[in-house]
Amino acid sequence: MTLPPEVIEAYPGITVEPAPWGIGLINLTRRGQLDGKTVIVQRVHPAFAASVHEDIEAVTAHLARKGLVTPRLVRTRSDALSVSDVEGRPWRVLTFVAGKSTDRVSDSSHAERAGAVVGRFHAALADLEHTYVHVRQGVHDLPFRMRGLGRALDANAGHRLHTEVARLAEAVLGSESELVGLGCSAHRHAHGDLKISNLLFDESGEGVTLVDLDTLARMPWPFEIGDALRSWCNPHGEDVEAPAIDEAIFEAALHGWARGAAGGLALDQTERELVPAGVFTIAAELAMRFLTDALEESYFGWDPRRFPSRGEHNLARARGQWALARSVRAARSRLEAAARRAL
Ligand SMILES: Nc1ncnc2c1ncn2[C@@H]1O[C@H](COP(=O)(O)OP(=O)(O)OP(=O)(O)O)[C@@H](O)[C@H]1O
Ligand SMILES: [Mg+2]
Repeated sequence: MTLPPEVIEAYPGITVEPAPWGIGLINLTRRGQLDGKTVIVQRVHPAFAASVHEDIEAVTAHLARKGLVTPRLVRTRSDALSVSDVEGRPWRVLTFVAGKSTDRVSDSSHAERAGAVVGRFHAALADLEHTYVHVRQGVHDLPFRMRGLGRALDANAGHRLHTEVARLAEAVLGSESELVGLGCSAHRHAHGDLKISNLLFDESGEGVTLVDLDTLARMPWPFEIGDALRSWCNPHGEDVEAPAIDEAIFEAALHGWARGAAGGLALDQTERELVPAGVFTIAAELAMRFLTDALEESYFGWDPRRFPSRGEHNLARARGQWALARSVRAARSRLEAAARRAL
């Protein structure tokens, strides 16, 4: 890959390796060198405006002040946090943090350590005063997602998957009384995308830092941790049709979180009680989004080797998320007890 001239001009002397770096789907990521130091160079997905870097700067500066390991933005020659190419896409350079990312949680000990690095992050940000500049509309806004699915069903009555999507949608939308709303608890500083590939671990397996800071925001903590647990506790991934929540991983991750956050952040009772409901809600929300795209066929990527079209792939993902949500519902009292023990 050759870097665009705007990037070379903004970061004089920068070079990148030809192969992609790390596990990522959204940004274009390369490892490189600048001023004798290893760096990460990223072309940011067009869904994110350059203003996201003001939030990343505020949060990472605070983490660094607290002594946490964190990637930092490297400024351009004119002291900016990023630079745009001729097509208007933002590019950024980050300091490189040594560590490994994985795409699945291997066992309880891995989950405990993942929880700990997240707990440390949340606790360090508890006293940050920052109003986010880059705000994504619709994040965990359940009424918004429900309306979107309803509109897709109305507008695509003749779609080949309509009957199957409608049947599943009825079940998912029928769970409305079990979903937690955006006003459920205090809005805390959150990473916003805690899938395991966004955590770096050292050689001994300890968590080092969080990367992929484009989704930083304030949100209710049960959504932030619910999203993490939804993916960590479903080690077979988003595509399998019959996943079930792994209760041992669930509890270990929360024990780790409490270890990491100790002394820095005390949850209130609502937050502790809403962890299983948060996982259920996030899985149901994702099922709604996959069902919407099963009909609209315009947003999520898909694998043509495994599915005839984007619609079928999204329907399979929706089934998987709904099965996961139902397994959370079935295990609810045990999960609530586990959360009480851990937190
Ligand atoms: N500052 C950094 N230091 C070391 N490695 C990094 C750094 N930033 C990112 N990485 C590595 O590059 C990978 C991709 O980066 P990132 O997660 O930001 O991209 P992405 O395409 O947005 O990912 P996703 O698909 O999760 O949205 C990470 O999983 C991590 O392994
Ligand atoms: Mg990532």
